[in-house]
Amino acid sequence: MRYVRHDRYDLTLRKVGGGVVVSEKSTSDGNLPKRGSKFVRSSYANRSKSMSARMEQGEQYEREHVHDVYEQIASHFSSTRYRPWPIVERFLKSLPDGSVGLDVGCGNGKYLAVNSDIFMVASDRSSNLIAIAAQHEPHSAIVSDILELPHHRESFDFAISIAVVHHLSTVERRVEAVRSILEPLRQGGQALIYVWALEQESSRRGWSEKDEQDVMVPWVIRGSKKPLKGVRAARDADGATHENEDKVFHRYYHLYSKGELERDIGNAGGVVLESGYEKDNWWAIAVKHAA
Ligand SMILES: C[S@@+](CC[C@H](N)C(=O)[O-])C[C@H]1O[C@@H](n2cnc3c(N)ncnc32)[C@H](O)[C@@H]1O
Repeated sequence: MRYVRHDRYDLTLRKVGGGVVVSEKSTSDGNLPKRGSKFVRSSYANRSKSMSARMEQGEQYEREHVHDVYEQIASHFSSTRYRPWPIVERFLKSLPDGSVGLDVGCGNGKYLAVNSDIFMVASDRSSNLIAIAAQHEPHSAIVSDILELPHHRESFDFAISIAVVHHLSTVERRVEAVRSILEPLRQGGQALIYVWALEQESSRRGWSEKDEQDVMVPWVIRGSKKPLKGVRAARDADGATHENEDKVFHRYYHLYSKGELERDIGNAGGVVLESGYEKDNWWAIAVKHAA
């Protein structure tokens, strides 16, 4: 087992293959831990053949439509993520000093800076984002898929997983993701989980419960818009990429409807202590069922 210690735009909806919708309204692999018996292995390992096939398809789909995208947009994405969400901040600041926990799907690690009296092991599938998260000393940052976390069972006091589980492309994979977050917790250890909501009538996206739940959401990196000059202009006339054009990437999301997060947590062996809606997201605080 090797820990790798380094540590928007306005749109319209259109159907694409498999019923997925591209929303055009607004705005890594690398060093993945191998499975090992000492480490938490979700019931994923014992799944049936048909479920296994669906899991593999989901994995391939997410590689292309989630992981490759985050890997490419990591630096720009990170530059837009620095403000902690209030409920997450409150949760982290309410923990007893010396608590040790997880940030699963940590992105650039913005939550590592919130409470200097706790220690966190942060993980993300994107090695480019982990390279940024690793700058938050003294915390640990490792590259790991949420379904392959290398942690021992019953080891951690708490976990957060903010805006990650909605990137898993089937209900089985989302339930397994929640199970992966809960399994490393000691009895009574709490996990705070956030997912993007389908009900976003008041946001610029305007989704409601009538809309598709499986969507592709664009991430736009704006080009400079300045006219190209000299050598670059000549090269571009030869057909090379225009460096001053906008680049648009699409990420897959499953938008959660009211009650769905609580249902996934229950199916993953968790008990919801508290749940709610904040800024276009559903959130829940959960513990594992007593063994
Ligand atoms: C919307 S970002 C949220 C990042 C961070 N939690 C935050 O609140 O700023 C989603 C993150 O989930 C990560 N991610 C998506 N699918 C994942 C998976 N299967 N395993 C681990 N991380 C994943 C992405 O690389 C990305 O960093």
